Amino acid sequence: MIRRNRILKTSSAIRAIVAETILTPSDFIAPLFIVEGENVKEEISSMPGYFRHSLDLTVKEVKELWSMGIKCVLLFIKCPDHLKDNTGKSATDPNGLMQRAIKAVKDAVPEIVVMTDVALDPYSSYGHDGIVENGEIVNDATTEVLAQMSLTHAQAGADFVAPSDKMDGRTAAIRSILEQHSFPKVGIMAYSAKYASCFYGPFRDALDSAPGFGDKKTYQLDFANAKQALKETLMDVDEGADIVMVKPALAYLDVIRTIKDSVNIPVSAYHVSGEYAMIKAAAKMGWLDENKAIIESLTSIKRAGADLIATYFAKDAVRLL
Ligand code: PBG
Repeated sequence: MIRRNRILKTSSAIRAIVAETILTPSDFIAPLFIVEGENVKEEISSMPGYFRHSLDLTVKEVKELWSMGIKCVLLFIKCPDHLKDNTGKSATDPNGLMQRAIKAVKDAVPEIVVMTDVALDPYSSYGHDGIVENGEIVNDATTEVLAQMSLTHAQAGADFVAPSDKMDGRTAAIRSILEQHSFPKVGIMAYSAKYASCFYGPFRDALDSAPGFGDKKTYQLDFANAKQALKETLMDVDEGADIVMVKPALAYLDVIRTIKDSVNIPVSAYHVSGEYAMIKAAAKMGWLDENKAIIESLTSIKRAGADLIATYFAKDAVRLL
């Protein structure tokens, strides 16, 4: 025997010195769900251990994340029913919950990187990411609203806007409005390889944003396709994206790798709500070791090529490192 593979596996110290992939706190983006009110902390039923917080408690949470070494948050808001419509009116309100949340978080921890979700679904009476006309999600009218929405996020102090809507041309429209209004330092993290996925179910419970009719297959990607994801990602790069995203993560590791090898900007991956729920549910049944499942999943996503990982396990992972 001239090659002994077991040498590099002999002890935990040896395994550590040859480890190719090491997670660090700055790998993580912590998604936060924000609701109106004061002192509100509501557990999301399909995401045990994860909460919607009012602004006051969100600020506390952000301070804790920062103290743990987590450098980036991704904000989502739950819009009250009476403010939902088919125009995205409350999405572009300079005094809307998202805009107030951005200010509050930036005031509390100025250095933390604030990213914001840009899409109409939480604000839409139809639960779709865009404006609906005759049962269809119309592209160009939506893109204009998304650009306007992004501008209000920039004005409130966001560092990156993260369009998750999958309308054509939105990255260019957002870059252009940011330039017109002198926001040269606000970046775009584009959800470029975003698939129409069943794994978003718990998130839609969290924000009460499930589509009221149909599905999102006319704008999100078909999970059968990888080349289509690469094409759309390269277009986002051309349109001015600073970071591109693959979403979900674990079922799309091949897509993460392909994109990582094809672009020269950072690649993020979103370990989504359904991926969180699967681990939580199996752990609750005693079928999986939760902590081990978390670290193995996140390490695999990074090994596949993700430079950044948005995950509901950000805090747990940092505690486990
Ligand atoms: C909204 C949006 C969704 C997610 C992030 N932004 C849901 C969707 O597209 O239906 C999903 C995140 C998750 O499941 O954790 N456009």
